[in-house]
Amino acid sequence: MKLPIQLFHNNKGWVEGMLRQDPDFFSKLLAQQTPEYLWIGCSDSRVPANEIIGLLPGELFVHRNIANVIAYNDFNCLSVLQYAVDHLKVKHVIVCGHYGCGGVLAAMRDVRLGLVDNWLRSIQETYVFYQKELEGLNARQREDRFCEINVFQQVCHLQKTTIVQDAWKREQELSLHGCIYSIADGLMRDLGMTLSSAEETAPLRPPPARLRI
Ligand code: CO
Repeated sequence: MKLPIQLFHNNKGWVEGMLRQDPDFFSKLLAQQTPEYLWIGCSDSRVPANEIIGLLPGELFVHRNIANVIAYNDFNCLSVLQYAVDHLKVKHVIVCGHYGCGGVLAAMRDVRLGLVDNWLRSIQETYVFYQKELEGLNARQREDRFCEINVFQQVCHLQKTTIVQDAWKREQELSLHGCIYSIADGLMRDLGMTLSSAEETAPLRPPPARLRI
C-alpha cells in the first residue's frame, strides 16, 4: 500500500503557508539550529510538541517515547539530552506528560501489552510506591494524579543524569521543568517543580498541576 498522496499535498500546502509568512524561512533554518528548549514528551499522536506551545521548526529539540520515560540506560533519550545540553546549549528541558496517558494507565492496571510492558516496568514500580496515598481518590482522580506523579518522577531522573549534573557543575544555564498536558482542553499545566541548580532539590511529592495563564 502506497503512502497516501494526501500527505505530500499537505506537506506542499504547509511549505506554501510558511513561505507566505516568511519567504526566507527555510533558508534561515538551513543555516543554523539554535533551539532554547528540549521537549521530552509522550509519543501519543494527540500530543504534538511544537503545536502545543506554538513553536516553529528550529525552536524545539524533541525526544518522545511512550509515557515520557527518562531511564538511565536508555541511550536514545540520553544521547538526545547530551546533544541538546552540551552542543545546542538549550536553556530549558521540559518533561511533558499528559492526562489519560495509555502507557501510564497500562502500568497502573498491570495489563499485558507485550514488549512495552518492560518499558513501563519502572512506572509500575513508582505506582506501587504511591499506591497508598492514591487510595483515597476516585478512579479518574487517581489516574490523573498518577500521570502527574510520573512526570515528577521523570524530572527527578533527569536531574540525576550525569549530563544535567555536569552542566550545572560548569555553571551552564539550564532549568528542568515538569508539565502536564490535557487532551480534553488542550492546555498545558505546570507542575511547579523547576530545578535550575544542583543545590535545588525536588519537592518530596509533586505539587498539584496549575495553569499559568
Ligand atoms: Co502517553
